[in-house]
Amino acid sequence: MPQQPSPSSRSKRKITVAAVEDFPPGTRMEVQVGRAVIAVFNIDGEYYALYGRCPHQSAPLSRGRLQGTVICNAETGWETEWAYDGEVLVCPGHGMEYHLKSGKAFGYTFKLRTYEVVVEEGQVKLVM
Ligand code: FES
Repeated sequence: MPQQPSPSSRSKRKITVAAVEDFPPGTRMEVQVGRAVIAVFNIDGEYYALYGRCPHQSAPLSRGRLQGTVICNAETGWETEWAYDGEVLVCPGHGMEYHLKSGKAFGYTFKLRTYEVVVEEGQVKLVM
């Protein structure tokens, strides 16, 4: 009986998003990979990718604005503080906030799936 490769032994595939020159800083794209929609952002030359649909009512997160948010926790001594400036993705549907780099939802315990992004031979690629 043939053996199936374990999940860890399968090689990851890379999906080309765009050429680097077509994906400048401050822009974002939405990519469909199979049934998954992935939002990819270029923030000052660093690329970030996360699941592209808000779990609340499926609004397209690639259209969300980026800003900071107010936090208040033990690390801030329970004082309100502006944080994550430019790293908070606001859902265009009803305003849920997600940390672009980690996918974590602010104020909730879940996070969106994030994806590694690499640049190879002038192409921006998702690693899946
Ligand atoms: S669809 Fe995102 S908050 Fe409602």
